[in-house]
Formats: sequence, C-alpha cells, structure tokens
Amino acid sequence: MSSTIQIKRIEKSKIESVDFNNLPFGSVFSDHMLTCTFKDGKWQDLVIEPFAPISLSPAAKIFHYGQSIFEGMKAYKDTDGNTLLFRPLDNCKRLNKSAERLVIPQIPEEIFMSGLKALLKIDEAWIPTNEGSSLYIRPFMFASGNGFHASPADAYKLCICTAPSGAYFAGKVKVLIEEKYARAANGGVGFAKAGGNYAAQFYPTQLAIDKGYNQVIWTDDNTHEYIEEAGAMNIFVRINDTLITSPTSDRILDGITRKSIIQIAKDKNIDVEVRKISVSEVIAAAQAGSLKEMFGAGTAAVISPIAGFGFKGVDYDLPELEKPFATTLKKAITDIQTNKAEDPYGWRVLVK
Ligand code: PLP
Ligand code: COI
Repeated sequence: MSSTIQIKRIEKSKIESVDFNNLPFGSVFSDHMLTCTFKDGKWQDLVIEPFAPISLSPAAKIFHYGQSIFEGMKAYKDTDGNTLLFRPLDNCKRLNKSAERLVIPQIPEEIFMSGLKALLKIDEAWIPTNEGSSLYIRPFMFASGNGFHASPADAYKLCICTAPSGAYFAGKVKVLIEEKYARAANGGVGFAKAGGNYAAQFYPTQLAIDKGYNQVIWTDDNTHEYIEEAGAMNIFVRINDTLITSPTSDRILDGITRKSIIQIAKDKNIDVEVRKISVSEVIAAAQAGSLKEMFGAGTAAVISPIAGFGFKGVDYDLPELEKPFATTLKKAITDIQTNKAEDPYGWRVLVK
C-alpha cells in the first residue's frame, strides 16, 4: 500500500486536564492514535484518529490465542522544541522479528515510520519537557480476525498510542532472584515482545511483591543458575569495575537500551563483559564486597538501580556508591536522547 494517511482530528483536546508536573507512567493518553488494518492479504487504511476504544468481535483471535506483540519507545523534545526519537528503526525491526515468531504479517518500515512521525506531529504538544519525563510510545499489533480454529488469524491491526509519562519506578528497587518460575524457555518466545510473556511474569512477580520485593530477576529456565533479565528489563551487574550483562538468546530480549549502554560504557573505557553470569558468582561477589552495582536497563525505566536482592531466604544489600556507573550511564544516554550531548552514533532521529 502507499502510506497515505487519513487524518481525523479530535474536536476538543484533553491536554488542559493533564498535570505535566505530576505525570504517572503510561496511564494518561494523548489525543490521537494511529491504526492500520491488514486484511485481504495487505495492509490498508492507515488512519490517525482520536484515542478511543477499538471494537472487536468476541471471536477475534487475540482473545483466544494471544497473537499480540508490542514495542516500547519514547519521543523527547530538545530545548529548541525539536521532536526526537531514539533508534526508532530498531524498534520497527524488532516488531517485525516478534511478528514473524507470532505469525503476524510484517509491517513495512515505511508505513511504521511515516505513521509514527505523523502521529507525533499531531500530538506534538503532548511531549513533556520536564526532566525525566517523555512521551512513551506504544506500538502494538494483534489478531483482529475471527474464529475459534487454533491457527493464525486472517486479519490484524497495528495501533500506535502515546502517553506522556514520568518515571517508571519511584526509586531503587529490591529484587528477588527467581528459583522456580521462568519467563522464557529455549525455542520459545522470550526474545519477542509478545504480550503473553508479560502475562506469564505477573504471577511470580506478585509472589515476589507479597514477600516485599519489587521485581523478579529471571534466571534460565533449565537450571535457574544464570541470571538473565530484571523484570521487563535487561540486567547489568558490576563486579569491581567490570560491567557484565548476559548475551541475548532465545530467552532474552535484544534490548535497545542494553546495546546502547554497552556501546557508551565501552567508549567511556568501562570494562564490559557480555557473558553468562551465575547466581553463585553474584552471591560470592556480594559476600566478598566486590559486587558494586546491579541495574536494569530498558526504554521505560531507562536505568533502574537495584538496592539489593533476595535469594533462598537471605537478603543482600548493595553498597551506596558516590559515583555509580548507573548514574553516569543514565546521564550519558538521556543526554543523547534529549540532544543535550553530541550523538556520535547517529542514534537520534529528528521528526520533521
Ligand atoms: N527485556 C524485556 C523483557 C523487555 O520487555 C524490555 C523492554 O522493552 C527490555 C528488556 C528492554 O528493551 P529496550 O531497551 O529495547 O526497551
Ligand atoms: C519498555 O521498557 O519500554 C517496556 O516495554 C517495558 C514495559 C513492559 C513497560
């Protein structure tokens, strides 16, 4: 299809009712959304319209077989009022990687990017400018075609909604290293941003919350000996002055924040190791005093420092450092995202 966009504007903006100084994460929605429909074997009807409920048949396959994937990205404003995206093509590519695994049709980059940019233009005023706030962008695709036959649907929708958002976590988080449950398995869908991956996390996460933790550190499904992700984030561990993160795999999402942090850290001459990291290595380092930091990395939370972790009934605290890597790296990446620093990598994309 050509990416001609039909635009239906909202009659009266809701923006006056929003307190941009007290933004929650992802629960206040901008005026418009983008939708595009896949039917009769092709993508059609690229529309920007007021944010509103979507009507689906109770037989839509999304409800029965969970063919649903999403992305998470952010738009920023710089001090000159430019709208900026961070590595958006990587999100589009990952959406298509997830789509392939869930047998959802590929979305052409041209439709995704032109639709997203047009949506950001229309809702430009919704991009927060306060430090630590941004416009969270949620593209998603799901099976809108009907039928109880357990097979891929014949129709799909792409939707992009946006939400002016503040911080994802209020402060440092306390995590529990998982010994029983897994979020992903070899040959499964852990590498994809499939909605079902998150549904499957809720139960073990709730058990951890009931014990007084905020998040679960996911371990490998086979042995639970290796740490893999932190909630819905990639994980970094600092032992002495070396930053370690697990390699991506079938089970681990190829995070855009993760790979950006690896690059920035290397360029700051921080020693980075991409390798498996065992729970016993982390515990031994905690006991020896060489475990300096742990943090999660992802679009929503950017970098989320971990205050301490629990494992087999024992709690381990991490030290309070004067100059944590987490702070340095968070500042470096957000400065690039918001055009406060040079972008030697070409990651920033101006929305014209
Ligand atoms: N891991 C999981 C399971 C996630 O859901 C996310 C969030 O997108 C990430 C890691 C971080 O990925 P990114 O940095 O691309 O947002
Ligand atoms: C993100 O970091 O953007 C994510 O998608 C995590 C999300 C589940 C809030």
